[in-house]
Amino acid sequence: MSPKRFPDGFLWGTAISAFQVEMGRGEPSAGSDWYMWVHDEENIASGRVSGDLPEDGPGFWTLYAEDLRRAREELGNNAVRLSIDWSRIFPMSTQPVEVEVERDGRGNIARVDVDEEAMQRLRELADGSAVRRYRQMLSEARRLGLTVMLTLYHWPLPLWLHDPIACRDGVEAAARRGWLDQGTVVEFAKYAAFAADALGDLVDLYATINEPRIVSEHGYLSERGEFPPGLNDPKLFLAAMKNLSIAHGVAYEQVKRWDRASSTGLRTATVGVVVVLQYYEPDNPADERDVAAARFVEYMFNEWYLNSALRGDYDMNLDGVIQPEEQLPHLVKGCDFIGLNYYTRWRVRHVEGEGDPRFNFVFAPCSGDCSDFGWEIYPQGLRHVLNWAFKRFRRPIYVTENGIADARDVMRECYLVDHLEQLHGAIEDGVPVRGYFHWSLIDNFEWADGYRMRFGLFKVDMETKERTPTKAAPIYREIATENRLPE
Ligand code: FCB
Repeated sequence: MSPKRFPDGFLWGTAISAFQVEMGRGEPSAGSDWYMWVHDEENIASGRVSGDLPEDGPGFWTLYAEDLRRAREELGNNAVRLSIDWSRIFPMSTQPVEVEVERDGRGNIARVDVDEEAMQRLRELADGSAVRRYRQMLSEARRLGLTVMLTLYHWPLPLWLHDPIACRDGVEAAARRGWLDQGTVVEFAKYAAFAADALGDLVDLYATINEPRIVSEHGYLSERGEFPPGLNDPKLFLAAMKNLSIAHGVAYEQVKRWDRASSTGLRTATVGVVVVLQYYEPDNPADERDVAAARFVEYMFNEWYLNSALRGDYDMNLDGVIQPEEQLPHLVKGCDFIGLNYYTRWRVRHVEGEGDPRFNFVFAPCSGDCSDFGWEIYPQGLRHVLNWAFKRFRRPIYVTENGIADARDVMRECYLVDHLEQLHGAIEDGVPVRGYFHWSLIDNFEWADGYRMRFGLFKVDMETKERTPTKAAPIYREIATENRLPE
């Protein structure tokens, strides 16, 4: 059998995010909603969050050079996906910086124009030492030959935009309401413009937003209430989804405008959005209610956001029909690629309950091969969602996350190879997959679940900060270096 090769120029990398890896060495970044959220006594006592703290993390802020070297030398990678922390760059509000905001007839933000004068003010407001540190990180990646995919928003919002505790305790009265406020969209456009201006000579590949659906679902449609601000209301979920969709568009435009230098020979700025697409199935395929529930969940969780951001279809009542007033094509600004995160298959089960019956579903507990998180290992799902996303949206795709919580290091190696087999299958099916980023380079702070979930290709001792390769590391290195699967 001929070896399964990947296309020339395929990007092999790992993914990390600022909040999850930076702290542990150097200055903590204490100015975000997530920082406040995981420190809140009430959240810890009620089990919304684990009680683990990000300042005990792996310390990438200081140790980045050795981690990037590991990615290059020990994993044979040619790329890396990382994010920058909005609240480090703008510890103080950018709201006083005047920009022109264009609205459509219904009050939706249709464009944010960051001009030269506004940019000058943003430069004055930005924290110079944070920007310098990010420039050092990105330069180091470049020096090592790692193409960077830069995520602008991987979840923490500056506190001056979101007070998650005030929202949790009474969202109506709260003053800073994060993604529920259109104002956050305006500030995101400024931040994106600034990032492209300040870092654009070192970056060509951008992801505007990471997993808008997870931000909206776990923040606004969750019984455990584990993500800020811990609410459970379908209306708020959709309001956040809508603003995160408009936010992608305004940021897309600003990055294109302000990134004027190419760093890799790729186009100056290739800009996409990262979505998580899981494989959903009815728990009992013979039960019509489970079938309907699975279809609804797939529509709401996999499809809704891409329909809105790429097509301007904002199905605000989730009935699956785009009415004339839900068609907002003027809000679509572009999306050069889809970043696709894939982890697992969920079996959806209808349950009896109150309220809108469509939301009465649960995910059946994992019964097959399960990760420490209780996520089923189901590699075939990756090929399925890659085909689905490409057929429907016709964009090049990067697999921007895929990985497993496996503290004992007994499943990761198979997980990696089996998913890459499926990815290769998708390429054979004709899907233009351009790269693969494994989650994650190093163990890190897994949001509400803290340090129990170990996703790293390198284990991290959070006390000593020592890194140790897992069994999957040498295999990944072989695959990346040879650009093909092992025989
Ligand atoms: C994704 C997130 C990432 C990490 C993995 C396990 O949903 O994007 O930050 O937490 O899950």
